[in-house]
Amino acid sequence: TAKLGILISGRGSNMQALVAHAGSAYEVVVVASDRPNTPGLAWALEHGIPTFALSPKEVGKATYEVALDAALRAAGAEHLALAGYMRLLSNDFVGRWRGRIVNIHPSLLPKYKGLDTHGRAIAAADAVGGCSVHLVTEELDGGDVLGQAEVPILPGDTPEMLAARVLAEEHRLYPRVVSEWLSR
Ligand code: GAR
Repeated sequence: TAKLGILISGRGSNMQALVAHAGSAYEVVVVASDRPNTPGLAWALEHGIPTFALSPKEVGKATYEVALDAALRAAGAEHLALAGYMRLLSNDFVGRWRGRIVNIHPSLLPKYKGLDTHGRAIAAADAVGGCSVHLVTEELDGGDVLGQAEVPILPGDTPEMLAARVLAEEHRLYPRVVSEWLSR
C-alpha cells in the first residue's frame, strides 16, 4: 500500500474524496497546508489524519519548503497528491519528489493552464469543460496527463455553475487515477 501525502490550500473537498477512497492502493499518511487556518486542515484533524501547517509568509518560501519536505518524509509519505494546493512548488522541491507528485487541475489540459479556467472556457464558447490529473513537473500544469473527465458546458453557465459540475467529476476522477497510478 503506497503512503500518500496530500497538500491543500483551501476547503479540501478533493482531499476528502481521496481519503474516502483510500484502500489497498494507497493510504493517506499526512495532510499538509500552506494556510494554517484552512477548513480542509480542520477536517483532516477531526478525522485523525496527521497534519502539518506552516505559512510561507511567516518564514519565507525556502524555509517553508524545507520544513514541508521534512514533515512529509517524517510522516512516511512516498507520493504526493496536490488537492487545491494553490502555491507553486520550487524546482528544487519538485526535483526531490520527481515523478512522485500528481495534481488535479480544473480544465482539459493542455487547455487553460493556470487560474480562471472555467471563465476562460466559457468565454471561448467551448462545448465541453472538465478536469485533468497530471504529473507535476517544473512547468506549471505541464506534466503528463494521467486521466481526464469531461462535462458539458451549458447555455447560461456561469464560471461558478461550471466549477460545481466539474468538481463533482474531480471527486470521481482523482481517487480512481491516483489508485491506478499507485497500483502499477
Ligand atoms: C479544485 O477545483 C481543483 O481542481 C482546483 O482548486 C479546487 C480545489 O477545491 N485546483 C486548482 O485550480 C489548481 N491550480 P478543493 O479544495 O475543494 O479540493
